[in-house]
Amino acid sequence: PLTVKASSASPSPSATVTDSQGIKIKSVPTKPIEGQKTGTSGLRKKVKVFMEENYLANWIQALFNSLPPEDYNNGLLVLGGDGRYFNREAAQIIIKIAAGNGVGKILVGKEGIMSTPAVSAVIRKRKANGGFIMSASHNPGGPEYDWGIKFNYSSGQPAPESITDKIYGNTLSISEIKMAEIPDVDLSCVGVTKYGNFIVEVVDPVSDYLELMENVFDFSLIRSLVSRSDFRFIFDAMHAVTGAYAKPIFVDKLGASPESISNGVPLEDFGHGHPDPNLTYAKDLVDIMYGENGPDLGAASDGDGDRNMILGQAFFVTPSDSVAIIAANAQEDIPYFRSGPKGLARSMPTSGALDRVAQKLNLPFFEVPTGWKFFGNLMDAGNLSICGEESFGTGSDHIREKDGIWAVLAWLSIIAYRNKDKKPGEKLVSVSDVVKEHWASYGRNFFSRYDYEECESEGANKMIDYLRDLVSKSKPGDKYGCYVLQFADDFAYTDPVDGSVASKQGVRFVFSDGSRIIFRLSGTGSAGATVRMYIEQFEPDVSKHDMDAQTALKPLIDLALSVSKLKDFTGREKPTVIT
Ligand code: G6P
Ligand code: ZN
Repeated sequence: PLTVKASSASPSPSATVTDSQGIKIKSVPTKPIEGQKTGTSGLRKKVKVFMEENYLANWIQALFNSLPPEDYNNGLLVLGGDGRYFNREAAQIIIKIAAGNGVGKILVGKEGIMSTPAVSAVIRKRKANGGFIMSASHNPGGPEYDWGIKFNYSSGQPAPESITDKIYGNTLSISEIKMAEIPDVDLSCVGVTKYGNFIVEVVDPVSDYLELMENVFDFSLIRSLVSRSDFRFIFDAMHAVTGAYAKPIFVDKLGASPESISNGVPLEDFGHGHPDPNLTYAKDLVDIMYGENGPDLGAASDGDGDRNMILGQAFFVTPSDSVAIIAANAQEDIPYFRSGPKGLARSMPTSGALDRVAQKLNLPFFEVPTGWKFFGNLMDAGNLSICGEESFGTGSDHIREKDGIWAVLAWLSIIAYRNKDKKPGEKLVSVSDVVKEHWASYGRNFFSRYDYEECESEGANKMIDYLRDLVSKSKPGDKYGCYVLQFADDFAYTDPVDGSVASKQGVRFVFSDGSRIIFRLSGTGSAGATVRMYIEQFEPDVSKHDMDAQTALKPLIDLALSVSKLKDFTGREKPTVIT
């Protein structure tokens, strides 16, 4: 392994140490930078901030300073990203610091491209020690917008808070960056380059992931649907990372027509778009699906390929329903789940539709805080197979990240299975048929989320404090209009596997009929505060299932707005996004 003696007292700018294995390692003196604390999902800032002198380098070095040396010394790491602006430069910085800290080999996606789920898959398949993902997920990219970095551990899962807290601590005391003096690596061709004992392998970002998908799903079943002339499919890659995956998977493997992929070329600024697959930001797709004679199934994924949105013809599948429906059908339609899912889980604000499936299938069920990282331990312990979040994340224990393309393949499997015996010309079972059947047998959990983006932090924090105070004074039986309080709290979670506790994860008011109103501040924004308000109401009566969610939830939404005094605290009349 490469070893460098850090002169912790006062590093001199010219200190250069040649290691025994032929690479020069430069010790670059640096100073702590404030504000490098990671949020729900990695460190995210405006790209301009990351481009300031040692901003990125400090964080990467602080990360190495936080890991036990045996986790990277002579080890294997993976590096990928969503193709956004600054990824190319950042990749070179990360590679040099990895080499400088004694990493043995780094696997990099060609052109620095690799989706978040693919990085997780590659870490697991290649038994890597961990991996970096250069992405600010669904946040816009380009010189004026966002950049981000995430670190995943050897199970392929986002680093736990114990590690990210350590990284933050180390960013506040850092004095030296260890950088290998190697030339920039050519990331445009697949192949292996050696620098002394340090190896960089540029890999095809799709092949390992595709192989995994072929093991999870019945590709010939999906092909039988996707290649039908009476089934029309459209996938919107939003000019983000899944553009690199869509053609090889949907077109080349599954027989979709090349025109079924839209915005399929990853661009540094996502084509000026906001690569978040929801009803607001994936408007092009929504317009097509709700237009005259729209396709039968439409889907989109976000910047780094872990989120998904599923639409039928003029029909939106809310993510909370999507995971419930996938779970209810998995055993029959998806080979990976042939012996039945081990358990199901959702994040706290996600609707209770999944709970009902777990109950009916008699499966272990878990409610965790917002953040995919909370599912990992349950999966590693063999207690959880399928999980999802209202924030357009769905996935399973095939990897340790949510997985956009997996969700699309799951829905294609469900629709394909229902239609496998349909002759040409026979009416196909549609996405909305499947969802409505599900509601008819389980009841419908009406759900909506209101986002108030880029609020002033002060007002948003005051609102949450106010709500916490309200919660502490509330008691079961309190009347809120025509709703009776069952309980109110600030959600806390004790991980059943390692006993770690996450507190203050969202203020919730749960009423006696199961309705819920929930408030939390987003952990993924990069400017100001984003207030999220979640509204849910269960409706067993089939005759009411066709109601529009906004209409059905109106009384509860009004109640949530008045209970929280949201307009007073934030000065906002209307949400920026409704899902
Ligand atoms: C990311 C995380 C998810 C989380 C979502 C929303 O996508 O991976 O696990 O649900 O962000 O987080 P936020 O804190 O912005 O509500
Ligand atoms: Zn994402």
